[in-house]
Amino acid sequence: MFLTVHPGNPLTGEVELPGDKSLSHRAVLFAALAEGESRVENFLVSGVTRVMLDALAAMGVEWRLEGSLLRVQGRGLHGLRAPQQPLNCGNSATTLRMLAGLVAAAGIAAVLDGSEGLRKRPMERISEPLARMGVEIESDEGRAPLRIKARPAGQRLRALDASLPVASAQVKSCLLLAALASDGPGRLREPGPSRDHTERMLSSMGLRIANKGEQADGWYETSIEPSGAALRPLELRLPGDISSAAFLLVAGLITPGSAIRVRGVGLNPTRTGLVDVLQAMGGDLRVENLNDQAGEPAGDLVIRASRLRAAEVSGPLVVRMIDEFSAFGAAAAYADGCSQVRDARELRYKESDRISTLCHELGALGVRTEEYEDGFKVWGGQPAGGSAAAHGDHRLAMAMTVAGLAARGAVQVAGAEMINESFPNFVEILRALGADLTMRAAGSA
Ligand code: S3P
Repeated sequence: MFLTVHPGNPLTGEVELPGDKSLSHRAVLFAALAEGESRVENFLVSGVTRVMLDALAAMGVEWRLEGSLLRVQGRGLHGLRAPQQPLNCGNSATTLRMLAGLVAAAGIAAVLDGSEGLRKRPMERISEPLARMGVEIESDEGRAPLRIKARPAGQRLRALDASLPVASAQVKSCLLLAALASDGPGRLREPGPSRDHTERMLSSMGLRIANKGEQADGWYETSIEPSGAALRPLELRLPGDISSAAFLLVAGLITPGSAIRVRGVGLNPTRTGLVDVLQAMGGDLRVENLNDQAGEPAGDLVIRASRLRAAEVSGPLVVRMIDEFSAFGAAAAYADGCSQVRDARELRYKESDRISTLCHELGALGVRTEEYEDGFKVWGGQPAGGSAAAHGDHRLAMAMTVAGLAARGAVQVAGAEMINESFPNFVEILRALGADLTMRAAGSA
């Protein structure tokens, strides 16, 4: 699909977003492990959560969707069955990595696979620590497909004791899940503050698990004490996804005359790096109606169009906005001065190599950029407009759309169907706020 942005219209109004992607993945997966029926409102129904739902169904988990209300019948750790076919995780590394932890904990055999894009992403970061815990696992030179063998009945895994080279909530969640089948208390250390949704949600289900934050030696530590006791089912309403809201925040700040309220967004401090950066750039962006939703801080984000100054992002802030650099790139393209990102090599292992694709596609819209091994530079101003491509990356497609909203000329985004992976009503919401967008199937005139 081609999405064309006709720039200039101010964006005004109030919107609510689909549920958070990270929380949706965790809610259905942990509900499958619980004993009893879980009920999850505002579940994200999108490409990446569909593959998670289908994979769980292939392991015998019954679930039902009514709109965005999800009900799941928990099967407990020992009630999952080995899938007959490879589990297709599509384009979703979160699905593959978290399912690998679940399969390891359940002690069943499974093959985990996905799209060509997913097969390129690094999986030794889970296969090696899982193998050290005693999981029999094979990979294709550190890539998917991953083949996990069944564990003999009654055999436990070794206690978790891992220090991750790169902070990653996906890897952390995978290993914490595997630790449910281990024979003692576990500990996991990371070099940065990755999102702690797994710890919050599993602890609300009765598991002894704690994110202990930064330690005296600078590492961030999580502890787990698996007891074998049943997990309580979930009953919650998920907040909106801050990583989807990110595109609306930038859209509202850069498009003259805009004033937007995004209601009920998850504001977990491990995810709000972009809010801090946009405020530091001079963005008129406020948090209102702070409350607690699904065990997570949440609130409204209120934005007014603002003149932005360039920003520098590095260090521990990077992990707190790891999914937001495409949106940040769009903001930087409109800021006064030259923005810079460092310490962000991890961006090269996301749905696309986000350092290279972002620089290339901003360049296609007339924005000057420079790539570093671990980051990039963007010279701000006003993009000229032109044609950009999504490279199979939902967030890049949305960032290029947003970058077009106040450009000098129209912007066309090829591969815009990828947006459905995480934010299926993105175009609808932007149009409701006033944006002039047209969609055209590839090949049509
Ligand atoms: C996610 C964690 C992040 C993020 C991804 C979702 C999660 O990956 O990029 O979109 O739900 O745990 P890493 O933790 O591997 O950086």
